[in-house]
Amino acid sequence: MTGKVTYVAILADESIHPQYERALEEVKEDLGREWPMYIGGKETYTGGKFEKRSPIDVNILIGKFQRGSGEEFSRALDEAIKAFREWSRLDWKDRAKVMGRLADLIERDRFRLAALITYEVGKNRYEALAEVHEAIDVVRYYVDLIHKVNGFEEPMQSPVPGERPVSVLRPYGAWAVISPFNFPIALAKGMLTGVLLMGNTAVWKPTSEAPLTAIMLYKLMIEAGIPPGVVNLVTGPGESFEDAIVANPKVAGIAFTGSRDVGMRLYRRFTQSQPWPKPIVLEMGSKNPVIVTAKADLDKAAEGVVRAAFGYGGQKCSATSRVYVQRQVYDEFLNKLIEKTRQIVTVGDPRLRSTFLGPLINKRAQDNYRKYIADAVSAGGKVVYGGKVLESGEFARGYYVEPAIITNLPRGNYLWYTELFVPILLVDTFETLEEALAKANDTEYGLTAGIFSEDPNEVQYFFDNIEFGVVYANRRGGATTGAWPGAQPFTGWKASGATGKGVNGPYYLLNFAREQARTVV
Ligand code: ALA
Repeated sequence: MTGKVTYVAILADESIHPQYERALEEVKEDLGREWPMYIGGKETYTGGKFEKRSPIDVNILIGKFQRGSGEEFSRALDEAIKAFREWSRLDWKDRAKVMGRLADLIERDRFRLAALITYEVGKNRYEALAEVHEAIDVVRYYVDLIHKVNGFEEPMQSPVPGERPVSVLRPYGAWAVISPFNFPIALAKGMLTGVLLMGNTAVWKPTSEAPLTAIMLYKLMIEAGIPPGVVNLVTGPGESFEDAIVANPKVAGIAFTGSRDVGMRLYRRFTQSQPWPKPIVLEMGSKNPVIVTAKADLDKAAEGVVRAAFGYGGQKCSATSRVYVQRQVYDEFLNKLIEKTRQIVTVGDPRLRSTFLGPLINKRAQDNYRKYIADAVSAGGKVVYGGKVLESGEFARGYYVEPAIITNLPRGNYLWYTELFVPILLVDTFETLEEALAKANDTEYGLTAGIFSEDPNEVQYFFDNIEFGVVYANRRGGATTGAWPGAQPFTGWKASGATGKGVNGPYYLLNFAREQARTVV
């Protein structure tokens, strides 16, 4: 399996299983060790360390990592600034060549990377492999794109005789790149590709939930030929880096994917602390709705919702978390939804082929799940499927929960408005499509949304009136999930994003460069 693939193709490919299972054994040699950070290409150690354990089984030590802070960030930033001079002056074709090599190397190691994702963040094999392929495709998409637009060089016309103006895009400098746990390779790779391909350099601070995946990706970047210092890797808790990131006047820009609270705090502090306006590219989660009308194929709708709500435990910014069903098909749809959940969402160790839903990322997520279920019940909500934290037997060593479906939750309850990031799906009814749209749009977020209806007029009405950036109709494989490079630009509106130029799409690279008008007479 090489080049462009789809999630469906991965699911259908029998040959992935022995390769992935072999990789699960092979990556054990990387587990349990101490790892450095990488500043200016040098292995760097700090006094403080932190441990990362697998959410599958806390007895599995992923490794010991350096507890960096603002001091290491500032040193790394200085290295990134030093490296900027040469990297930014390279011909864009040379940078594209290096990035293309990186895509090939990720592809070479795809099973090891997928196995590591499983150990580190608990993804099942299909989700983990799909993510690695998403990372490969995001790099290749942007390498192809930059060739298509000739490095964004655009000859202009001047009314002054003899003048030959041209518009070019130039990089800003050294960026801070902050990446989340839920797609430790694909989302990091999206941001890093934007930053680096356009000629910037980076200090990358990955989530402390997936530091080893980040280190492996960093090593591949160096092997591909990205010069040390062009990308630097610092590890440790986000709080200890924040002051240095927002206040250092040498930071050229921030690319962040993560929670809304952290993203908005960075946004406010960065814009206030810096001497002039600087770019901050934010992707910040959502509260994604799906509408199921009386004209839907209800089997398709139920499957699409189950996959999008419970895939990777709802820990995707694209996860479906609210469903609005037209009254006359409500009972039939709910029965199908429950039945499909029972059939599809097998809970277990994500290393097993039969597992759909592995553990949540950590104890806090498991505690949140318990609290959300209790709050829903005490507000009058009815748990019609699942709802239990799994703590005994084979589940005792990790952070496992059942998928949960909740109905009858009063409108206005905070759970309708809060991104939960756990496998809890809320279901409500509507009478008219207009009412469904009003309910779907009743949120500060705006990332992904879906509709199930076989009537093209209803679909068109939905597209024209939904206030979300990534919208789908009738997607069985995942009602609101599975945006792919070159196919669905991942554009967050409102509280889900800041720039309106989403990763995976044709305008994303523009976030990472500033225009220069060059005129020669
Ligand atoms: N590409 C991932 C999705 O859309 C983030 O689910």
